[in-house]
Amino acid sequence: MKKFAVLGNPIAQSMSPFIHQLFAKQSNELLQYDALLIPKTSFSEYATNLFENEEFKGANVTVPFKQEAAKFASVLTEEARIAGSVNTLIKLDNRVVVGANTDGVGLVNDLVLNNVGLSGQRVLLIGAGGAARGVISPLIQAGVASIAIVNRTYDRAISLINHFKHKQLEALSLDQLNQDGHHFDLVINSTSASLYGELPGVANTVLAHAACCYDMAYASEPTIFVAQCEQLGVKQCIDGLGMLVGQAAESYFLWNGVRPDVKPVLAALRQRL
Ligand code: ATR
Repeated sequence: MKKFAVLGNPIAQSMSPFIHQLFAKQSNELLQYDALLIPKTSFSEYATNLFENEEFKGANVTVPFKQEAAKFASVLTEEARIAGSVNTLIKLDNRVVVGANTDGVGLVNDLVLNNVGLSGQRVLLIGAGGAARGVISPLIQAGVASIAIVNRTYDRAISLINHFKHKQLEALSLDQLNQDGHHFDLVINSTSASLYGELPGVANTVLAHAACCYDMAYASEPTIFVAQCEQLGVKQCIDGLGMLVGQAAESYFLWNGVRPDVKPVLAALRQRL
């Protein structure tokens, strides 16, 4: 039987085993998918052992190992190389392990599924951490006109645009953003603020003008950011559960060559939250 796992620390909360079992049912694939708690200092040792098992074909990688996974992989896809972060490891027949990053595709596909147009859109990306880094290139490839990056720590936003060097990117401080009356079509919150019940500090006037606000975080109730945007009357307010399923679907495709139908899986997951 083909074996897969998600590797992280902590990992008990992971919904990846549930998602991948539903994908497998759709395509009548028999596979095992485990959630494995990896000691924080032993990622490469554990991953090496896992991939030595003949049946083990691939892994998802989550916090805090995405950058270590990029070092572990024998070869990286273009997205993973640019992001410096890997959420999917794929074993090829010759035992080479490819590192890919499907987070950005997961976000873009979820936006498309929600009929959020991307071509020519002005995007505000809140946050400059690993989550932001993974979605910049896929958004640009999807044809957005511009991405302004705003971050609580302004220097990190500057570093991020210097890393990418795309002409569509601009870094803003929260003060500049909130004072200058900027308008955006799509606002994406990539910060971890919602996970702590905090708002990322973007002014109501900026958010209220957007046609769509997207929070990469999700919860059983609307996240604090989604709730704020709904209150402001933003037409489409979306949480990141669809991105979670979207990145999983892309991993599943890379491993098994089959594209799962994400909609029923997303509905089942929403019920389970
Ligand atoms: P991840 O890989 O999830 O992006 P990270 O690299 O630690 O994690 O980045 C977390 C992001 O959330 C950062 O942009 C962080 O802002 P700082 O760079 O200023 O730390 C942002 N963040 C976390 N909590 C926040 C809060 N309460 N308000 C605003 N931004 C917050």
